[in-house]
Amino acid sequence: MSFSTEGPSQNIVWHEQMITKENKRLANNHHSVVFYFTGLSGSGKSTIANLAAKQLFEQGAQTYVLDGDNVRHGLNKDLGFTEEARQENIRRIGEVAKLFVDSGQIVFTAFISPYESDRAMVRQLLEADEFVEVYVACPLTVCEERDPKGLYRKARSGEIANFTGISAPYEAPTAPDVILQTDVYTTEQCVQQIFDYMKQRNWMK
Ligand code: PPS
Repeated sequence: MSFSTEGPSQNIVWHEQMITKENKRLANNHHSVVFYFTGLSGSGKSTIANLAAKQLFEQGAQTYVLDGDNVRHGLNKDLGFTEEARQENIRRIGEVAKLFVDSGQIVFTAFISPYESDRAMVRQLLEADEFVEVYVACPLTVCEERDPKGLYRKARSGEIANFTGISAPYEAPTAPDVILQTDVYTTEQCVQQIFDYMKQRNWMK
């Protein structure tokens, strides 16, 4: 997908900002990082991400949740669910998440992000201590039973094509930094797991 006849942007020069990422981290009194949630539809990504962000916000942290459904209402409303479209979806999300990290925030991204290569691409965009892969693990049968938006039913009946887990693949992470088993633990327990990880990394008192 290109909007230019002469190919990728040319004659552009990076301009350093006067307020650095470090300045913002110091002002916020916390690290800035992406908690990159991945998991099937209905696995609980958005629910956990939102509660974690809210609890951190209540403690004075700068947080933001980037959510698949929401981002697809605006920035990515031109993208569908083919492999290529999902790749472009995740590429843009990675770049946006990087801007949020640069602004000093703790970012929670809640995208299915089914392809290992796309997740690796986002990891590459960030520093090693700015990307935490969180696998929101929940068996397909449980997600399908929950079916909060009725999408699995539609996918089974053929009303929705390329539906993750039914007619499109989900490549589970092989070495995630955190695994949240939402069929075993409550939302609160999963949020606590995130906070325990932050404490372990010295990102939270
Ligand atoms: S992806 O794979 O990362 O590009 O997907 P994402 O941007 O996270 O969007 C997933 C949400 O879109 C809805 N939806 C679908 N999901 C999967 N496959 C298909 N075909 C599809 N069509 C619509 C669905 O509500 C997903 O939200 P979650 O929160 O994951 O249930």
